[in-house]
Amino acid sequence: MKLEKYIRDIQDFPKEGILFKDITPMLNNFEARQDFLHVLLQSLENKKIDKVVGIESRGFLFGMLLAQELKAGFVPVRKPNKLPFSTLSASYTLEYGTDTLEIHTDSINPGDKVLIHDDVLATGGTAKAVCELVEKLGGEIVQLNFLMELHFLKGRDKLKNKNIFAAITY
Ligand code: PRP
Ligand code: MG
Repeated sequence: MKLEKYIRDIQDFPKEGILFKDITPMLNNFEARQDFLHVLLQSLENKKIDKVVGIESRGFLFGMLLAQELKAGFVPVRKPNKLPFSTLSASYTLEYGTDTLEIHTDSINPGDKVLIHDDVLATGGTAKAVCELVEKLGGEIVQLNFLMELHFLKGRDKLKNKNIFAAITY
């Protein structure tokens, strides 16, 4: 099984000089999705998960598949002003400026075993903000998993002491 073959390189997207990793060929292929899902689940070694937290927007896709397989709740972390109930927010720094993510305050109970999922680990700013949200609500982060990790952007350095798994590493 070669997972990389389902990921398409797009040169100069969304900006000049960026090599974008496009997951849509994988999403459009049942067997490819199964292969990615299987690898992500295997890395959890049957650990119990109460909640899967998926990060808007591409983290929703496999976040939901994982939650279903793990018989866990699914919790969306969203961009600002999208969630209707009471929320907790965390901000993180981008190349230029900052961004904010939100979670519903009743989505995680203290002591819940949490899996955080996103499509890509790049600089790690997004994942770090989500860790803060989950931990403020008292969740215990069992693992962060990703379809792919861009290792050269050193996202892991921002996520010290966390258990991280990526199906593909570039
Ligand atoms: C991308 C990607 C990750 C994040 C990784 O999302 O899907 O969520 O960036 O970057 P980082 O590790 O440097 O924080 P983006 O914010 O582009 O939004 P999208 O998923 O809605 O397309
Ligand atoms: Mg994203």
